[in-house]
Amino acid sequence: MAAIIRMRDVRKTYATGALEVEALRGVSMTIEDGEFVAVAGPSGSGKSTLMHILGCLDVPTSGSYWLAGGDVGELPDSHLATIRNQHIGFVFQQFNLLPTMTAARNVELPLAYAGVPRPQRRERALAALARVGLADRTEHRPGELSGGQQQRVAVARALVTDPALLLADEPTGNLDSGSSAEVLALFTELHAAGRTIVLITHEPDVAARAQRTVLIRDGVLAA
Ligand SMILES: Nc1ncnc2c1ncn2[C@@H]1O[C@H](COP(=O)(O)OP(=O)(O)OP(=O)(O)O)[C@@H](O)[C@H]1O
Ligand SMILES: [Mg+2]
Repeated sequence: MAAIIRMRDVRKTYATGALEVEALRGVSMTIEDGEFVAVAGPSGSGKSTLMHILGCLDVPTSGSYWLAGGDVGELPDSHLATIRNQHIGFVFQQFNLLPTMTAARNVELPLAYAGVPRPQRRERALAALARVGLADRTEHRPGELSGGQQQRVAVARALVTDPALLLADEPTGNLDSGSSAEVLALFTELHAAGRTIVLITHEPDVAARAQRTVLIRDGVLAA
């Protein structure tokens, strides 16, 4: 297996006025293609910071990061945006769906950014929604869907570009136990189908769904 993610001694310091916070203090890790990994740790331990770097939403203060064989540590923002669009699907705790757009239009958006022609966009969005069990909700707006359904729309949106890596930050944090189970079952299926998944959570029973768990505490990984 090839490593999809390789991080070496990644540090991230946030400066807010006179206060500096070292959110990551030397993180090294390797994730193989096709793995399902949970990142767990208490509030403020650096999980979201790590996800932002993994997802090329932010860059390390120092250290190196290779994604799918390419060094992304040194790239300008414009390149990072392209890498995000091509290689990574994101799922967030707050769904982040656009409220005025239908489920299908929300799922089409990453394809619009990627320059895919409209008829193909539509077709692929409908297929992704069918994949997450929402073939009968494509014309609903987010406000007309349950929390679990909204999160499944977000998973469809993350998958529609066929990304190598699916990154989820507390994807079940706003869901009741039934909807959580639905979304977690979907992750398990996606992993079985070969997708690489990194799931961030502070809930041990959610982390237990992954193949292995990486623990983070005060910005460092625990052995
Ligand atoms: N944009 C920012 N500017 C300044 N400090 C930040 C910023 N983002 C995070 N931090 C700080 O960095 C540390 C790590 O935050 P992070 O959001 O990564 O934690 P987390 O593990 O995701 O926590 P939670 O479980 O509460 O989501 C915290 O001390 C936080 O206050
Ligand atoms: Mg967080």
